[in-house]
Amino acid sequence: MAEDVRKIPYVLPQPFGMPPDIVVPGALDPDCDERLWVPQSPDVSFRPLMFNVTAGYYVNLLRVRRAGVLSRHRHNGTVHAFVLRGRWHYLEHDWMALPGSFVFEPPGETHTLVVPDEVNEMITLFHVQGGYVYVSPNGVAEGYEDVFTKLELTRRHYAAAGLGENAWRTLLR
Ligand SMILES: [Fe+2]
Repeated sequence: MAEDVRKIPYVLPQPFGMPPDIVVPGALDPDCDERLWVPQSPDVSFRPLMFNVTAGYYVNLLRVRRAGVLSRHRHNGTVHAFVLRGRWHYLEHDWMALPGSFVFEPPGETHTLVVPDEVNEMITLFHVQGGYVYVSPNGVAEGYEDVFTKLELTRRHYAAAGLGENAWRTLLR
């Protein structure tokens, strides 16, 4: 009986220089080990899923536990997002990001993220390419965020929380 070719794994070596894949079990579990959440500011934290310092992007879960304005910022890269819990919106748009919503943010856009008063927690998966600059209403730069600032916060927090270096190294490419 002939062997079913469809069930044969690829036999050749992977290309030289290719980085290893990443698997994060329970990546969307909002009730994971609390130490995995990196404090960004009071009531705002993120759980990193990938730091790509080669391509210049990161993927994380953002968790906000207070209502009101989070930040105004200008993106220099693309953002893809999936809302998991709660809801939020931008002052510059009339739509609301709801649980299950997919959001694309174009590079170049400046917007102001707001969590509505009645929401006590929002969690959203963000894939952020490049970075973004915190700005005044007139676009004057006040700070920035990118894969390197996220990685630095994570390294410090994970060390302080007693998580081994592997907790962030396995997410780094
Ligand atoms: Fe944004």
